Amino acid sequence: MSIRIAVLVSGHGRGSNMAAIIDACQRGEIDGQVVLVIGTRSEAPALQRAAEKGVRTRVISPRNLSEEEYAQRLLHALDEARVDLVCLAGYMRLLPVPVVRAYAGRVMNIHPALLPLFGGKGMYGEHVHQAVLESGMKVSGCTVHFVDEHYDTGPIIVQRCVPVEDDDTWETLAARVLVQEHQAYVQAVKLFAEGRLRIEGRRVRILPPTSP
Ligand code: GAR
Repeated sequence: MSIRIAVLVSGHGRGSNMAAIIDACQRGEIDGQVVLVIGTRSEAPALQRAAEKGVRTRVISPRNLSEEEYAQRLLHALDEARVDLVCLAGYMRLLPVPVVRAYAGRVMNIHPALLPLFGGKGMYGEHVHQAVLESGMKVSGCTVHFVDEHYDTGPIIVQRCVPVEDDDTWETLAARVLVQEHQAYVQAVKLFAEGRLRIEGRRVRILPPTSP
């Protein structure tokens, strides 16, 4: 059964992970369809990009709303679109707890480092890659994980590594990681669509493919 996917982006998100998921659905690699992209600001390039790909977009801004009202608006939009899976892609806020609970085990996020290192509040984009460079680590990478009520702590689905080169800047490292992000996110969504992810405590077991 084809799954219905919503992608959440924030601020001025450029939407490259979102585009990777939409493209993988549109070429049939993922048995699913991105039915809705929700942004926190109308100016986000990601929303424009989604619309160009024929995907419905909505802006739900948390500004001037209580956390509870913001959560209810998100839930209403997701429920109305009959969404099976929510993908956070460059969504820099903590997803409101009522949404996490209503969609438990059905919300994923991508993070541009190897969690549980270099995660948590304030660790996004440039900050993550700068911290990796300052740490002296020889590898970095990306993590796709299920979302729980905290920043970057949910069960890990897929990770991919890249080398950290001696002459890396945060920009060159970010670009190397981003290539892997797109592949990792598509892989994780594909596994979800195939019903092959089982959460067992902190671990996510990847089940073998079922024969047709
Ligand atoms: C990606 O690198 C993603 O891993 C990161 O934001 C970027 C969004 O790029 N997310 C975080 O740092 C979350 N803590 P995109 O809009 O091109 O997908």
